[in-house]
Amino acid sequence: MSSTAARTRVAVLISGRGSNMSALLAASAQPDYPAEIIGVISNRADAAGLDVAKAAGIATAVIPHRDFVSRAAFDSALDRQLRAWNPELVALAGFMRLLTFEFTESWRGRMINIHPALLPEFKGLDTHRRAIEGGAKIHGCTVHFVTPGMDEGPIIAQAEVPVLPDDTPESLGARVLREEHRIYPQALARVARGEFTLP
Ligand code: GRF
Repeated sequence: MSSTAARTRVAVLISGRGSNMSALLAASAQPDYPAEIIGVISNRADAAGLDVAKAAGIATAVIPHRDFVSRAAFDSALDRQLRAWNPELVALAGFMRLLTFEFTESWRGRMINIHPALLPEFKGLDTHRRAIEGGAKIHGCTVHFVTPGMDEGPIIAQAEVPVLPDDTPESLGARVLREEHRIYPQALARVARGEFTLP
């Protein structure tokens, strides 16, 4: 029997390589995956992930943040593009912009992010170096709802990896990234199925 259930429409926001976006695309190619990627937006025209999305036949848009006088103006343009595509969920995947209170509130409960650390530890940038320098024995990644506070929203999924004695930020980052690619599609599926909601 074939399933006729509508899949949840998801827009993905990127700034660069887009390997997490690729993991979401690969998952959504599975017939039983509950979400479909309907568009990818980058704030950088040179984001490598744009070519991957285009090759997969996904709509893309570039909204260069430098073209806007303020963070609010950029977020308004982002919001307009999203509303034009009408996604049910927005997945941030290496999107390197802080978002305004207004934008995050207007997508509240419908926007998720992947962060390369075990939140609430190591919010912000350069997480792998900070984990090594801080003597962490366990590091990892987190998928969470996006709320106004940076990297603060309720946690949907986490995966742990060991920090090995001879790790560099690069070797540790590669170990974490493999887990990101595993848990992000799982977490998005769970949100798409309505298993996680924000009160
Ligand atoms: C990932 O480590 C993600 O957790 C972080 O930025 C990186 C983006 O990598 N927010 P990619 O563009 O998904 O390859």
